[in-house]
Amino acid sequence: MMAVSPALQKESQGAGKGRHHARYPRLRHGQAFSLEARLAAVVEMNQNTWDATLYDRQYGFVWQQAIDLVGLLSPQPGERVLDLGCGTGHLTALIAERGAETIGIDASPAMIEQARLNFPTLQFKLANGLDFDAPDRFDAVFTNATLHWILEPNRVVHRMHEVLKPGGRFVGEFGGRGNLHTLLEGLQAAIEETGVACPSLPSWYFPSVEEYRVLLDRQGFGVRSATLFDRITPLEGGEGGLRAWMGMFVKWFFRDLTIEHQGRVLSAMEKRLRPILYRNGTWFADYRRLRFYAVR
Ligand code: BEZ
Repeated sequence: MMAVSPALQKESQGAGKGRHHARYPRLRHGQAFSLEARLAAVVEMNQNTWDATLYDRQYGFVWQQAIDLVGLLSPQPGERVLDLGCGTGHLTALIAERGAETIGIDASPAMIEQARLNFPTLQFKLANGLDFDAPDRFDAVFTNATLHWILEPNRVVHRMHEVLKPGGRFVGEFGGRGNLHTLLEGLQAAIEETGVACPSLPSWYFPSVEEYRVLLDRQGFGVRSATLFDRITPLEGGEGGLRAWMGMFVKWFFRDLTIEHQGRVLSAMEKRLRPILYRNGTWFADYRRLRFYAVR
């Protein structure tokens, strides 16, 4: 692992705060967006923008870095396991390899299509975690890199509680407080520096461990463990790695900008972040994960 800037190491309590996304309604730069507008943006983004082939090819780290989460879940032969936000299906397949009966759900049609192509014998369904219809209950719910996209955390946890059998496990990982703090701060500063009006900056749900423990507890789960840890992640693409990452994960929120304005913001962002997140020809993203194990 490279030596990273101290900025990457420090807990950033304010990360994520004050960042907003949404296309509807169109608002002035800096103005707050309603939850409703932000939800609409994420729903629309899921329906339209994921490039699942590229995601599979260039962002394999999203599932590869969470393989040990499957170990934590410890799926048993014959168990029914729901993979919430299965993406292109790789972790669902690892769970199925252990003999569990799996169903992977994702809100993105492109991801589900790719998952079915990757693993034609497994079951995948286009559905979101809020109103997923499950006639039979599960022994476990597994989820990786998904919960930060769902801006109604209470609702999704409530639904997962409903679909689990008593004693069922809810095991997952997603972006915790301070996730991508340096990267997003660089983006924010670049927008301010260039003066480009960018009305739809993203915001995700990146809670602290304490906040998430309380949430799980209030929804009826017993929390067995919850931890926050840094996972500095190299991005593929060499010099273009940061731009490519932005194109995959933040593109939607930039779509009202002209190509020229996008280029100006990205160049300013690269210039600011190069001393911190670029080493020996590789860009890094300052991911920070919240991993939890809870029981219904
Ligand atoms: C993540 O933590 O996996 C993530 C969060 C926001 C955008 C892209 C990725």
